[in-house]
Order: sequence, then structure tokens, then C-alpha cells
Amino acid sequence: MERTLLIIKPDAVDRKLVGHVIGRLEKAGFKILAMRMEKLTEEKAREFYAVHRERPFYNDLVKYMTSGPVIPILLEKENAVTGLRELIGATDPAKAACGTLRQEIALDVQSNSVHASDAPETAAVETVFFFG
Ligand code: RTP
Ligand code: MG
Repeated sequence: MERTLLIIKPDAVDRKLVGHVIGRLEKAGFKILAMRMEKLTEEKAREFYAVHRERPFYNDLVKYMTSGPVIPILLEKENAVTGLRELIGATDPAKAACGTLRQEIALDVQSNSVHASDAPETAAVETVFFFG
């Protein structure tokens, strides 16, 4: 069994897609271990995406991630990290494979509805970040 972290981003919460996302996760066999809703502070959003601090989209990304509440969810499944990245699809919904969550509900490359940890090590760090 492996754990990974998903975040339902502000655009999906705002468009009332929380139940839909959770339904997709459970249908795909992920078990929810922990979850809550929070409005990120600017400082926390900057820290979460610090790896992108030199990128041109960083400030817009921080603004977007603090524009409304987010829902971090701790998930468990066999090969959870890879499986969840496959389920959500590519960063840009225009490039995301058919049937992926982002292809289905994301608005654009920034407002792409969900985050998923990109490696087991990142998942561990992100889990502590949100759930201690
Ligand atoms: P995430 O970390 O949120 O799961 O997304 P990801 O791995 O698929 O993509 P990443 O390269 O880590 O980018 C993080 C988030 O930054 C926003 N972004 N905007 N305007 C742009 O060109 C652009 N590129 C990325 C997205 O919200 C992306 O998920
Ligand atoms: Mg990423």
C-alpha cells in the first residue's frame, strides 16, 4: 500500500465539483485516510509551490491557490502516486488524455482543478505539510 496527497483546488470547490472528484477517487479504488477544507494563506501557498518560485507563472499560481478554499485529501492505494497522476492527467487540460479528471473538469493550464503529489518522497512531505 502507498499513500499520496490530492488537493481539490479553488476552481473545483467554487464550481461545486467536490463530490464529483471524491466519487472519481473512490471509484478508482483510493481509500480516503484524512481530509479537510482550508483557505491557504499567501505564505503557505508560496511554500507549497516553492519549487516553482523562479517560474513566470508563480505569482499567478499563488493568487489562484489563495482565491478560495482548497481540500487536501490523504489517499491510500497500491501504487497510489503513479495511479493518481494517471487519474488526474496532464497539467494542461487541453493536453490531458481522454477520461482523465483534468480533461473532464479543468478550466485551463492554471485553473486545473486538482493537485497530486509527483513522487512518494513529495507525497510524504506534502502529507506532513497538511496533516502534520
Ligand atoms: P500540481 O503540482 O498542482 O499537481 O500540477 P502539475 O504537477 O501537473 O504541474 P506543475 O508543473 O507542478 O505546476 C504546478 C501548477 O502551476 C500551475 N501552472 N500554471 N500558467 C502556466 O503555464 C502554468 N503552468 C503550471 C498549475 O496550477 C499547475 O498545476
Ligand atoms: Mg507539480
